[in-house]
Parts: sequence; structure tokens; C-alpha cells
Amino acid sequence: MKIVVTGGAGFIGSNFVRYIYRERPDWRIDVFDKLTYAGDRRNLEGLDENRVTLIEADIGDEQAVDTAVANCDAIVHFAAESHNDNSLQSPWPFVETNVVGTYHILEAARKHNKRLHHISTDEVYGDLSLDDPVKFTPNTPYNPSSPYSSTKASSDLLVRAWVRSFGVQATISNCSNNYGPYQHVEKFIPRQITEIIEGRKPKLYGSGKNVRDWIHTEDHSSGVLTILEHGRISETYLIGADGEKNNKEVVELILELMGKNPDDYEHVSDRPGHDLRYAIDASKLHNELGWSPNYTDFKEGLSQTIDWYKEHEDWWRPQKAETEAKYREIGR
Ligand SMILES: NC(=O)c1ccc[n+]([C@@H]2O[C@H](COP(=O)([O-])OP(=O)(O)OC[C@H]3O[C@@H](n4cnc5c(N)ncnc54)[C@H](O)[C@@H]3O)[C@@H](O)[C@H]2O)c1
Repeated sequence: MKIVVTGGAGFIGSNFVRYIYRERPDWRIDVFDKLTYAGDRRNLEGLDENRVTLIEADIGDEQAVDTAVANCDAIVHFAAESHNDNSLQSPWPFVETNVVGTYHILEAARKHNKRLHHISTDEVYGDLSLDDPVKFTPNTPYNPSSPYSSTKASSDLLVRAWVRSFGVQATISNCSNNYGPYQHVEKFIPRQITEIIEGRKPKLYGSGKNVRDWIHTEDHSSGVLTILEHGRISETYLIGADGEKNNKEVVELILELMGKNPDDYEHVSDRPGHDLRYAIDASKLHNELGWSPNYTDFKEGLSQTIDWYKEHEDWWRPQKAETEAKYREIGR
């Protein structure tokens, strides 16, 4: 078995590559990645080059995509522009990569008749109220709020159309917010951890009431592998681990786990259009495919993640100053 993992040098993609490397020792993996600011070849360090090959290319490059897809058995498509705040500053790369790039992946999968698993997000569903009794399910109508989530929603719709119109052998998963090692310091949890390591206060957007449904990236990987191997073609599965926490609780927990006063954070202005709450009902994946998460204790998973950032300062430090400069420009 040989798979192409697009975006496999990014946060979730590289964790997935490491997961497959460990769990499927007879598989070969071609990582197809443009190495944007969010991709890092160091995320693949230590993996045997006879099993894992990095193809440095853009999913907007039709010929490069075609060649990679022709030479594999299946594609797992993670590559995307992924940060909401960036999408508010500069939406075009999101349209280019998330929509047009996915189009090229679909056309290649169609031409070469290859199995495709498309990675998406729960953000396509918009948000829930804090007391909404119903969580997101695969039948929840799409209602995206930001350029990021709307371009991910667009890519999901392209996949559905290519399945229906052209018989592409695809599945989709929409996952909740991931945490774990190798996540860029621009993202919420690594940003707070590294601010504290640098001796500054963590930053909380607005009131901090916004709820995210946290899942460890390792559990996202096991969910994706389960769907790739056993999912029904054309189906959408939601991946989540019942990890709802509001941002204030997460900041306080990080401070506590790092030996600080839980109140020692700074309020910054809120993100425009900031979704209030995401919550995943993953019962289809549990009931149909027998998947369940391993990281059920958020505090334990977060504590391991904090340790990883403490032990890997050389990994995140080169990106930190530039990331904070960007945040200062937008007042967050
Ligand atoms: N981070 C989350 O919490 C989360 C939750 C659910 C779903 N997702 C989805 O998972 C996927 C990966 O997210 P992430 O957080 O790891 O993102 P990331 O930003 O850390 O990584 C994205 C990767 O894609 C690569 N890439 C970007 N544009 C490319 C292009 N044009 N061609 C080839 N490669 C390109 C980057 O170099 C990088 O390696 C995305 O599709 C995202 O929508 C993320």
C-alpha cells in the first residue's frame, strides 16, 4: 500500500504520517507538501526515507498532483490554509489552496480512479449556542462563518459532487479542534504555552466563553485510518472526543499545569465573527466503524503537550517572534 498524504509536513498531517508509520509498517507514504510557513520538513525527521518521501509541491500544480496520484493507491488530503485569523487578513490563499487545490486533487483521483479521503473541519457547520442540546451531526446544514471555514465547506461540496457526478471513491471527515505536538505557535494552545515559557501572559480573546471540542491529534489520526480502511464510500463521518471546554477554562488549565496563577492572563480583542461553540456528535463513527478515542483525559493530554513544547524550544522558537509581531499588528 502506498498513500499520498497532502499537507503531511503540517501539524495534523505529520502526526498522521507518524501514526501510519508506526501502525502500518508495510505502507509507504509520499508526503505532498508545499512547505508554506505552516509546513516544516523537520516534522518528518527520524522517519526512514525508504518509507517516507517528501514531495515539495503545490496542490495547485496540476501536473505535480497528477504524477503523485498516479503513483499511489490512496490519497489522504490534509493540505489547506488553516488559520482563521490569517483568513480574515488575506482570504485569497484560502480560496486558492482549499478550493482550487482540492479541485486538482479530485480531478487526479477521478482520472486515475484512486481512493480519496478528504479531511475537513466541524467549522463548516457554523456555531451552536452555549445551551444548544443538539451537537453537530453529518446532517447538520452547512453555515460557515469565516473565509477559512467557507473555503473548507466549498471543498467538501466539491468532493460530494465528484462522488455523485463522477463516481470518485471518496469519504470525508469533519473533525473538531486538535491539540498535540508539532502545532504551529500561531494556534491557540501552543501560543498560550509558549507565551508562558517566554515569561509573558497568555492571551484570551474576548470573554473567553467560546467553546471548542478538543481532540488529541493522535485520536484524529486513528479516526482517519479507520475511515480510510473501513468507511463506506461517499459517506461523511464526524470525528470528536467529547472534549468541550471554553477558552477561559483552557487558559486557566494551562496556567495551572505550568505552575502559574490561573488568573494570570491578559484579555485581548475578540476575533470578528468568532464562532461561539462547536460540539461534535461522533456516534456514527463509534457505532458504524467501532472507533473510539484513546485520549479521554484532556488534562493529561494537555500536560503531555506542554511537556513537548518545553522540550522542543528549538522547533518553535524560529516562528515565535514573527507570529507575535503579526498578532500585535491586529491587536490580538
Ligand atoms: N487544526 C485543527 O484543529 C483542525 C481541525 C479539523 C480539521 N482540520 C483540517 O486538517 C487539515 C490540516 O490542518 P493543520 O492544522 O494540520 O494545518 P497546518 O496549517 O498545520 O498544515 C497545513 C499543511 O498544508 C501544507 N500546504 C498548505 N498549502 C498547500 C498547498 N497549496 N499545496 C501543498 N501543501 C500545502 C502546509 O505546508 C502545511 O504543511 C486541514 O485541512 C484543516 O482544515 C484542522
